[in-house]
Amino acid sequence: MITGNFPINRFKEEETPFYYYDTDVLRDTLDSLKRILADSPDFKVHYAVKANANPEILRIIAKAGLGADCVSGGEILAAVNAGFAGNKIVYAGVGKTDKEINIGIDNDIFCFNVESVSEVEVINDLAAAKGKVVKVAIRVNPDVGAHTHANITTGLAENKFGIAMADLDSVIALCRNLPNIEFIGLHFHIGSQILDMSDFVALCNRICEIVTHLRARGIEIPDINVGGGLGIDYKHPNHHPIPDFDAYFNTFRRNLKLRPGQTLHFELGRAIVAQCGSLISRVVFVKQGTHKKFVILDAGMTDLIRPALYHSYHRIENISSDSTIIERYDVVGPVCESSDVFGKEVDLPETHRGDFIAIRSAGAYGEVMASQYNCRSLPHSLLL
Ligand code: LLP
Repeated sequence: MITGNFPINRFKEEETPFYYYDTDVLRDTLDSLKRILADSPDFKVHYAVKANANPEILRIIAKAGLGADCVSGGEILAAVNAGFAGNKIVYAGVGKTDKEINIGIDNDIFCFNVESVSEVEVINDLAAAKGKVVKVAIRVNPDVGAHTHANITTGLAENKFGIAMADLDSVIALCRNLPNIEFIGLHFHIGSQILDMSDFVALCNRICEIVTHLRARGIEIPDINVGGGLGIDYKHPNHHPIPDFDAYFNTFRRNLKLRPGQTLHFELGRAIVAQCGSLISRVVFVKQGTHKKFVILDAGMTDLIRPALYHSYHRIENISSDSTIIERYDVVGPVCESSDVFGKEVDLPETHRGDFIAIRSAGAYGEVMASQYNCRSLPHSLLL
């Protein structure tokens, strides 16, 4: 059984559960991203802060020179505090409050990705009150599906995100008429955990159609933002610790021909942080049920909600047992919900109370989605 290289002796000093981040994996991922983008100065990556807002993780990513993609005023402040330059921050979200819009304006962010007519009008008024002109890109709902979980598909007409293509011309006209708005481009995002590059090809085709339609009306689009969504290999974190950035960026290079002066923006979250993180817990009890054995952890759905919420697969490893006997267990948490299950029928070396269990590929949408349900404590983190 292949497992990651875990500093077990160091773990013994920690109260469990906690998120362990292997900063070498994060740095290797960022290096690989930078290498691949070195010859594409017209490609800009904004890290999607929603995937993991741990301040130390943010600092490492900011130092690597990436921009930030935020979806709340809180995320803008977290990004700025971690060292992201305001002029590399993009801000999306269907329900930006006045307070949040003002945080964006005060930090001179690169652009607001706007999602409705009322939002454009409110941003214009708030910018006028501060005597500023703010940059705006229109988030378009491209009606392009993605072959991923229904809860994380965002680019279909039935989803709440973006402005319908039929309304695009009128919203662009509105932006161009408002004195405190500078219209700079279009924003898209079709979903998350996408591994089939043909979904991104479909997005590129839709973008080409829209840009051609707008050019014919004399409207240039200097900035195109294709959102995030590149998936990772949850089954084999050790074999594929770094996502296939080459295939991803080449898909856009081949299918979206940029004009001189145009910039293509990306908002990758999961692909950057998922594989560097594991949720580390101790086994509280091993229990023989009527038909199966349960491994009961001190980590639960409050620490990592993805399996309960999306039936997501995470690789589960017993990182402290050296038994050669393999047993089949359901691995569960202590929370009073039947959905508090990390994995069913998981083959593990014979497992005992006190063993360390690692739940892999948990660096994205893990710690940041933790809750205190059942008055549980939030998990802490360990970066090594
Ligand atoms: N840009 C926008 C506008 C987004 O809505 C998202 C994610 C991203 C970028 C980053 O997507 P990524 O590169 O990470 O796929 N909690 C779910 C994922 C929700 C994604 C929401 N939007 C999960 O645990 O799978």
